[in-house]
Amino acid sequence: MSRTFLVTGGAGFIGVNFVKMLLENGDSNVVVLDALTYAGNLESLRSEIQDGRITFVHGDIADRALVDATLAQYRPDYIVNFAAESHVDRSVTDPRPFVETNVLGTQTLLDSARAYVASGGRLEKFVQISTDEVYGDLSIDFESPVVNAVLSEKLGRQVALYGREVFHHDSPLRPSSPYSASKASADMMALAYHRTFGLPVVITRCSNNYGPYQFPEKLIPLMLNNILEGRPLPVYGRGLNVRDWIHVDDHCRGVLLAAEKGRPGAVYTFGGYSERRNIDLVHELIAASGHPEAADTITYVGDRPGHDLRYAIDASLAMDELGWRPRHDFGSGLRATVRWYMANRPWVERIVSGSYRDYYTKMYSNR
Ligand code: NAD
Ligand code: TYD
Repeated sequence: MSRTFLVTGGAGFIGVNFVKMLLENGDSNVVVLDALTYAGNLESLRSEIQDGRITFVHGDIADRALVDATLAQYRPDYIVNFAAESHVDRSVTDPRPFVETNVLGTQTLLDSARAYVASGGRLEKFVQISTDEVYGDLSIDFESPVVNAVLSEKLGRQVALYGREVFHHDSPLRPSSPYSASKASADMMALAYHRTFGLPVVITRCSNNYGPYQFPEKLIPLMLNNILEGRPLPVYGRGLNVRDWIHVDDHCRGVLLAAEKGRPGAVYTFGGYSERRNIDLVHELIAASGHPEAADTITYVGDRPGHDLRYAIDASLAMDELGWRPRHDFGSGLRATVRWYMANRPWVERIVSGSYRDYYTKMYSNR
């Protein structure tokens, strides 16, 4: 029997990949609700909209009347909330939209879902998409990654880490930026709606995603675009901060499993077990793009205020309860991603020629 997903924020990077995965699986009706902020790009779903495989609703998750009407009309079995302001640097410049969408928007969606259930709506799961950034950051203990025996055993491949610690699903919340603070607030609200009102909420917290359709303000697509345009590569600080990278398909499979099998009230973490220092990742991108001359354009710029040092995830709960495993190897996943951006230059160029250019100037001219 087919089921209906309401995917909020479905025109953004991860939402687009999730929608495409649902359609490939073939047994879902998909409704996308998205406000089309600077980060929402309907062009990524152009063919799916044109041939009627998804329904698009243009609107804000903080607009209660619109969300109520959408739930009443499409009667979803699952709500998956990707809608968010998602860029840390923007939250440093102006935190307010992060509170409006990530906190108030999520609370509005939760309230509307609650009313939908109260009026007979059969909601299987409300999946709140969160981030490992709610846990704050970890220390960097080693100059080069050291093999972690426990995680290597669990993954069945060698896992090497820059530090002794990793985040677990129940690690304490210590957000550093207005972005991560707003996501932590939304998580607490979602869990409160589970405990107080019995809403079937599940939370997913994931490390840094990479893959097709990512807005070129984030590290990987920004660096690639600059490499291909022969522009300077702005590395924050000394480039020594460490991120764990997960292919967006692995994240999306985790989200679907959390929707289908997740325990209401549970928090699942997902990671790629692929830590990289930013500067090393930039060199990998240069090598994969076949532009060695770009190494000369690496430019160390002023650091991000409050810049988190390191993220690392232990996804044991998702592995044990959901049967999830990351499938993508980082090296080949990254090379495939580089090929995608090189083959889809018009997709990036249309973004870069728009309002993104003003934002770019504002962000980088004073560094
Ligand atoms: P994105 O910025 O690419 O996309 C966000 C989408 O939400 C856009 O389509 C935008 O138009 C839409 N949106 C914003 N405000 C809205 C509102 N008020 N109402 C309706 N739609 C609105 O973000 P992303 O990278 O796809 O991230 C999606 C989710 O995953 C976010 O919640 C983010 O916190 C989380 N996350 C992202 C990463 C990552 O590496 N990108 C990692 C972990 C978690
Ligand atoms: P980003 O992609 O913004 O993700 P997040 O801040 O959520 O981890 O940044 C990834 C890392 O790359 C982060 O440590 C900041 C750094 N960075 C740069 O060095 N230069 C850049 O131009 C950008 C956008 C990020």
